[in-house]
Amino acid sequence: MALNVNVLREEFPILHQEVNNKPLIYLDSAASSQKPRAVMQAMDHYYETANANVHRGAHTLGDRATQSYEAVRDTVATFINAKSRQEIIWTKGTTEAMNLLASGLSQSWQAGDEVIVSRMEHHANIVPWQMAAERTGAIVKVLEINDKGELRMEQLDELISERTKVIAIGHVSNVLGTINPVKEIIAKAKAKGIVTIIDGAQAVPHFKVDVQDLDCDFYAFSSHKLFGPTGLGVLYGKQARLEALPPYQGGGEMIERVSFEGTTFNKLPYKFEAGTPAIAEVVGLGAAIKYLESQDRSAIEAHEQALLKRAEELAADIPGLRVIGEASNKVPVLSFVMDGLHPSDLGTLLDQQGIGIRTGHHCAMPLMEAFKVPGTARASFAFYNTLEEVEALFAGLAKIQRMFT
Ligand code: ALA
Repeated sequence: MALNVNVLREEFPILHQEVNNKPLIYLDSAASSQKPRAVMQAMDHYYETANANVHRGAHTLGDRATQSYEAVRDTVATFINAKSRQEIIWTKGTTEAMNLLASGLSQSWQAGDEVIVSRMEHHANIVPWQMAAERTGAIVKVLEINDKGELRMEQLDELISERTKVIAIGHVSNVLGTINPVKEIIAKAKAKGIVTIIDGAQAVPHFKVDVQDLDCDFYAFSSHKLFGPTGLGVLYGKQARLEALPPYQGGGEMIERVSFEGTTFNKLPYKFEAGTPAIAEVVGLGAAIKYLESQDRSAIEAHEQALLKRAEELAADIPGLRVIGEASNKVPVLSFVMDGLHPSDLGTLLDQQGIGIRTGHHCAMPLMEAFKVPGTARASFAFYNTLEEVEALFAGLAKIQRMFT
């Protein structure tokens, strides 16, 4: 059944407004997605009826807060098909998850050990590994890409060595939209006992992810790109891997017993959750996932692919427009550059027409280097976007081109 986008848009109050005296067209969901009303309502309800600290209060509100919060751990475990709720760790976002992993895993590295990342990674999946390498004498190796913006998989066997400790790869590129063959990478790594980490921030909003089917050791994503609130992320890890990993931050919640003679740590998942967590945000994420799961996910995917196809067709009609990233398997993200127009000017001029896109290096400077551009303009679509909005983007670009060239 086709998706009724207009009905669905009613659930996203923010979309119904004017920006610069034009109807808002929001094409920046890869940076942060908009939230359905259910998310705001769940957070309001939590603050109005249950707000208290979790796992601590000897009172009714504390119990309510703990129950609402812990129930979402189950929702998330089911959402990605984790084996157990102990495998779901709350973080501040994907970035913190990557820092937690780089910091913990590198504690057992020796100088000369190796980590493999790809050319198309977000800085969040590059810099923590560089910092850990700097500290330990390890080496960060790079899996390159082809002109279409796909991983050069034939290089992987050459890159893997006896010293490879970790392969950390994005499931989907935030700039190119490329969906990477992570299952194949994970299988190769697993055969050699290498730890696999998947940055799923740009994947989970677009298609179903099954961590047991992927068989990765770790998988991370952010709530705010998944129609939930900011300031919250999820780190999934196989139980044995998480058990073996040292804690990241010390404090309340993550301990079993503290004395000046020595401290013992709490069991999973709490060992990684020092301090008061983002309780209302967790509740909001639960509502976002429930909202998404109540939709027809295959209809969503078909609609998003139709948006991408239309965008690609219209892009081909604009002279001097070059699409960056033409992989055969993509989520609805379109990066491009235009002759004679700087990406940031494009962003400003589109904004004057009510159209919000992202411009710049998109936290992926090594990728910009490969395409020999300082930055791109990026339109990223979600299921609440319409074909008319895609058409308005290209009408807007054509207008800018007429004005300036
Ligand atoms: N990583 C986010 C993006 O791609 C912020 O825009």
